[in-house]
Formats: sequence, structure tokens, C-alpha cells
Amino acid sequence: MAQDLGPFPPNSVMESKQTAYNVLDAVEASGRHYATSLPMIASENILSPLVARAVSSDLHGRYAEGLPGKRYYQGCDDFDTIESLGIESAKRVFNSKFVNIQSISGTVSNIAALKALSKPGQSITAVSTADGGHISHANMGAVGVRGLDLHTYPWNVERMEPDIDAAAKLIREIEPSVALFGQSVFLFPTPLEELSDAAHEVGASVMYDAAHVLGLVAGGVFQDPLREGADVVTGSSHKTFPGPQGGFLISDSDDPKMHRRLNNAVFPGTCSSYHLHHVAGKAVALAEFEAFGKDYARDIVRNAKALAESLAERGFDVLAEERGYTASHQVLTRHGDKDSGAGRDAAQMLEKAGIITNMNMLPGDTKALSPSGLRLGVPELTRVGMGADQMDQVAHFFQRALIDGHDLNSVKADVELFKDDYTTVQYCFEPGQAYP
Ligand SMILES: Cc1ncc(COP(=O)(O)O)c(C=O)c1O
Repeated sequence: MAQDLGPFPPNSVMESKQTAYNVLDAVEASGRHYATSLPMIASENILSPLVARAVSSDLHGRYAEGLPGKRYYQGCDDFDTIESLGIESAKRVFNSKFVNIQSISGTVSNIAALKALSKPGQSITAVSTADGGHISHANMGAVGVRGLDLHTYPWNVERMEPDIDAAAKLIREIEPSVALFGQSVFLFPTPLEELSDAAHEVGASVMYDAAHVLGLVAGGVFQDPLREGADVVTGSSHKTFPGPQGGFLISDSDDPKMHRRLNNAVFPGTCSSYHLHHVAGKAVALAEFEAFGKDYARDIVRNAKALAESLAERGFDVLAEERGYTASHQVLTRHGDKDSGAGRDAAQMLEKAGIITNMNMLPGDTKALSPSGLRLGVPELTRVGMGADQMDQVAHFFQRALIDGHDLNSVKADVELFKDDYTTVQYCFEPGQAYP
């Protein structure tokens, strides 16, 4: 009987080799694209040279299940040193008694924290995705994976935060196992003290998802969730915290049982191999953050405010003017009527002009693929050395592309020239090429 080779003929070795080279060509092209553009995706950042060394090390292929000194595999002595140094730096950086640095992403950190803090069938309160909550806070994500019954907070659209009284009332009525706070669209600190009180009154654990704002929290310029009532803070290690892709779980609890629950929820709960090269990269990034993080966090927020003000002066509709536009790394702009797709169109035009952004739903929008707004972020532009003057130049490029109707190719050529002066990573021990 003929062997079933599947629906497609197999590639020859030459074709497979060509595919590999095609992939590598695209990898290099992507690097050049970002090097010559203005990358303004709020969740992105770049690696310092020392972090890049750790991430491209032999550790990428190794396993070290367990915790320092308690491994299931041989060969982990050096990694024990790496992880222990990382944990000690992390406790200082996040001013906390416990940190797990193994989790491989913000989403995995959320799945792990929900595993530690709740049981399937229990209730959770969280920010809805329409109001800026993350997909992992929703039924389609981690909340659904854990089988929790989701209730979303009433929202104060003007202040872009939970409606404090109504959200506290919801928490008291629902008595959730977890009251989850934090967002992907995150302009202002959460009124956490008030809402944590309500949560603790009904025995709920307070979880604060700092994925986006972790570097600002650690840098002391946003809010201090552990001192404002959060029992567990989760976060990504690659957004405003400028490390490699990965996550953290953070708690100030003294309770060894809670530490065990959180550690076990990461390994074996959600990870087997937890990407040791990234753990090493996080450990280096934490050491760099201890030295440079406060300055970096301060400069990010200054730049976001400067960008918002320049955009508003140049005629853009920037959200939250009454609150000073932003207290974080993000700026929101509206480009047309709700659900008009004007945000999508603006993002596409900006990309032709060499500016990389993402369309975003704003209050009133109901369709994620045709929203009216953009979410802009400045962590990467700040990290390559731009300050308030450069934010005004960036706003000028926006104006030329979206208001003045300049030829997008000519704007792109000017963006490339401008960006040429900003290709070195700063706020690290050995400033070097940002785009390898
Ligand atoms: C609030 C929030 N939580 C979690 C995540 C997920 O983080 P990661 O991409 O590291 O999985 C994001 C991603 O942007 C986020 O905005």
C-alpha cells in the first residue's frame, strides 16, 4: 500500500534550506524596519546589550525544574546562582518579601496567580476588555481557563478608572475570591486603597496586574500596589520594565504557604521549562533597573506627558485632558467617530510614514477591528535617548502624516533621518546598539 504523505508534497532539502534563509532574511528585515522607524507600541521595549548576552546564551536549551537548591535535574549549580541573584534583586526592586521570576509571560503570571488564589466555579471581579482590561482578565483568557464566574466593574469613563462607589458595591455583593485590577489601556493609577478595603472585607484576595506599568511602579512614579492593598502583583518583564519577554509574581506576604502556592502555580502549575535564558536576562535587567530604573521610569512619564501636550497643541484629540492626559507611559488619541475605523486608518497611514502604533478601542467603541483611537507608548523612544524636545518632533511627524496630508513617503524619509540619532540603548551598564 502506498505511504500517505499528506496533502502536500514534501519539500526537497534545498527548498527547506531556502525556507530557513527566507525566515532569517525576514528576521533581519524586521530588525531594520524597527531600527529606522519610531516604534510606539506601548507594550514593547528593547534589550540592553548585557541582557541580550544572557538571552542568547547556552541556557536557552537547558532545564532547571524546581527552585534554587531543589532541582529535579543535575547541572543546575550555575543556574541556581543566577536565579538566586535574580530573586534577591527582584525583592529589592519591587520592595517585596516574595518574587517568582520564572513565569514566561504576563499572561502565564495571571494564570498562575489565579490558580493560586481561586478555585474553579468561584467568582472574580475585573475590568472589562471594553474599558481597557486585558484578554487574560476575560472569559476568552485566563479567567475562563480557571473556570471563574466573571463580573466586571462599573466604569467611570471621564476618569478612565473603576467607578469607586459602584465597584466597591459590586465587590461587596459578589464576594469574589479574587478582585482583579489593572488594565492594558492604563493612563492613571487605580484607586486601589478604597477598592482593596471592600475586597478584604468580604475575604477576597486583591490581585493587581501591573503588566504594563511594572517599571513605573518599581520606579516609584505610578502607584505602590503592595502598600495600597494588593496581595499579589503580576507583571510582564518586557514592557515598562525593560527586560526580556517574561513575567513576575510578586507578593509582600510573610506566609510561607502563600509563597509555596505561588511558586507551585508557576512550576509545576503552568510551566515545565521556564526559559532559563530569559530568567538570566531578567536577573541582569533587574540589576540594571536597580541602578537606572528610577531615572528611566521618571523620563518615560515625562515623555508621555510631553507627547500628549504636543499632540494636543498640534490639533489632535488627546483623551483625558482634564487629568493632564496621562500619568503613565501611554497616550490615547481619537481620530474620528466611534466604531468608524478611524484609529485603524490612522495606524495604517502612520506605518507608511515610519511610525509603528496600534489602533485601540476608546470609550464608546464597540468593535475591536474598527475603533476610533490609537494607543501610543513611549518606553522604547525614551530608552533610545529621546526627551521632551524629541516628543515634539514626533508629534510634528504625526501632524504631517495625519493632519497636513504630506506625502507619507517623504515623512518616512525624514523619520529615518531623525531616528538615525537614536539607536543606542540607554539606562543600562553598557549602552550599545538597540537594534542588532
Ligand atoms: C494588563 C495586561 N496583562 C497581561 C498582559 C499579557 O502580558 P504578556 O504579553 O507578557 O503575556 C498584557 C499584555 O499587554 C496586559 O496588557
